[in-house]
Amino acid sequence: MTPDVKTTSEETLDPQDWESMRALGHRMVDDMLDYVQTLRERPSWKHAPDQVKEHFKTPVPQNPQPAEEIYEEFLENVLPYPLGNNHPRFWGWVFGTGTVLGSYADMLGATMNTNSGDFDHHSAIHVETQVINWFKQMLGYPASASGLLTSGCSVANLIGLAVARNVKAGFDVRTNGLQDVRGKMVLYASQEIHSSIQKSVELLGLGSDALRHIPVDERFRINLQELQATIAQDREAGLRPFCIVGAAGTVNTGATDDLEALADICRAEDMWFHVDGAFGAWAAIAPGVRDLVAGMERADSLAFDLHKWMYMPFEIGCVLVRHAEEHRKTFTLTPEYLEREIEGRGLTGGDLPWLTDYDFHLSRGFRALKAWMSLKEHGSLKYSRLIQQNIDQARYLGELIEARPELELSAPVELNIVCFRYVKSDMDDGALDTLNKEILVELQEQGIAVPSGTTINGKFVLRVGHTNHRSRREDFDFLVGEVIRIGADLA
Ligand SMILES: Cc1ncc(COP(=O)(O)O)c(C=O)c1O
Repeated sequence: MTPDVKTTSEETLDPQDWESMRALGHRMVDDMLDYVQTLRERPSWKHAPDQVKEHFKTPVPQNPQPAEEIYEEFLENVLPYPLGNNHPRFWGWVFGTGTVLGSYADMLGATMNTNSGDFDHHSAIHVETQVINWFKQMLGYPASASGLLTSGCSVANLIGLAVARNVKAGFDVRTNGLQDVRGKMVLYASQEIHSSIQKSVELLGLGSDALRHIPVDERFRINLQELQATIAQDREAGLRPFCIVGAAGTVNTGATDDLEALADICRAEDMWFHVDGAFGAWAAIAPGVRDLVAGMERADSLAFDLHKWMYMPFEIGCVLVRHAEEHRKTFTLTPEYLEREIEGRGLTGGDLPWLTDYDFHLSRGFRALKAWMSLKEHGSLKYSRLIQQNIDQARYLGELIEARPELELSAPVELNIVCFRYVKSDMDDGALDTLNKEILVELQEQGIAVPSGTTINGKFVLRVGHTNHRSRREDFDFLVGEVIRIGADLA
C-alpha cells in the first residue's frame, strides 16, 4: 500500500537528477577498478604535499556543490595519497589489503543502510549470525559460543575482557561497579602482548597495574614458569588472579604462546582464558602451522580480525565467547522503547537474539556483508592457501636475509613477521639503530616498500608484518636488494 504521489516543495537528500547520479556511480566503479588493477605500478607510499593538506582546512560548506565536482576533488586530493596498505609491497605494522568485492559489499551494505544491532526479522542479522557460525567452524570453536562482529580486534579484546571481569569478579559488577572489589583483581599476559589489552584493562576500571607483564622465552612466548610463580606470589599477597591473555601471533615478532599450557593453567587456577588472535588466530586454517595455535579453541573468549589476515576492507573484527549467556548478561539492557511486542510477529518478533544484547553499540552497520560475500567469492580453502602463502613468503624473506652478510635476522620467523636489520662490523649498536631508522625512512619516502620499525632486545629493527595477498616473492627479492643498496649508501 502506498499513498498517491503528489508534487511537493518538501526537500529530500535523494538525487534531483537520477541519471547523472547513475552515470557518476558507474564512473566511480570504473575508476576504482582501474585504481586497484594498477596498484603495483604506483609507489608504495607518497607524502601528501602541503597544498593538499591545506585543502582540508576550508570552513563547513553551506551551499550545495555538484556531486561530479566533489568527486573531482576526491580524485585530486584524496585518492592519490592513501596510507598505501593495498600496495603489494606494504608490510608495515599489521594492515589488511582489501578486496574488490569486499569494497562493493561495503557499498551495498551502506545503501541498504541497515542497523544490525536489533530486530531479527531482517536479513542483516541472519547474515551476521551465519558468518559468525562460519568463523567458529573455521577456527574449531564450539558451535554454542556467542559471537559478534566488531570494528576491530581492540574492541573484540575489550568485549572479551569485559565478560571475563564480570564473570570472575564474584560480585555484581554491573550494579556495584568496581566499588565492591574484595581484593585487587589481576590478570596476566606476556611482555609482548598488544597495547589494546592494556587499554581495555584501563577502560574496564581495573587499572594498568592490574595487568602483569610476564617475561618471554627466546621465541618471544610467555615464560610459563614465571607466569605460574607470579600467580602464586599474587595469591600469597591477597590479590585475585582472574584472567590470562594468551597471544596467537604477537605484533612484534608473530610469536604464539603455548596456548594449551595457558588453558591448563587457567583451568587449574579457575581463571578466564582470553586469546588475542588479531591475525594469528587464522594460523588455524593454514595447513603448515595450525599446530602453533592448538589450545586456542579452549579459550573462554577469542578476539581476532578480518581486516588483517582474511584481507577484508576495514573495519571488521570479531569476538567469540564460549559462554553465550555470560556474554549476554554483560551487555543486555532493554529499555521500554526496545521491548519486543508480539512474539512471532512484526519487526521485533523473531527468534534470533538481538546483537545489541551482546554489544555496547546499539546502532551497528552491516559489516557482515563483506565477510559473507568474500567467503562465498573465494571459499575457505583459498583463504587457507593464501595465509599459508604469506607464511611461506615470510620464511623465504627470512632465508634471503640469512644468506646476506649485510643483514641480520633479529627474531625467529614463526609466522608472518620478519624482523631484521642492516649490519656493519665497524658500527656499534647505537649507530646501527640510527642507520636502520634512516633506511626505513628512505624505503618509505622513495616509495620502494613500507615495512615498519620496532625494537627487539634493545635494538631498532626493520619489521615486515605480512598479511598482503598481493605480494610475490620478487617483491621480497626487491626489498632485500634495496635495503642493502640504501644501507651501503648511507653507511
Ligand atoms: C596482536 C594484535 N592485537 C590487537 C590488535 C588491535 O587490532 P585492531 O587494530 O583491529 O583494533 C592488533 C593490531 O595490529 C594486533 O596486532
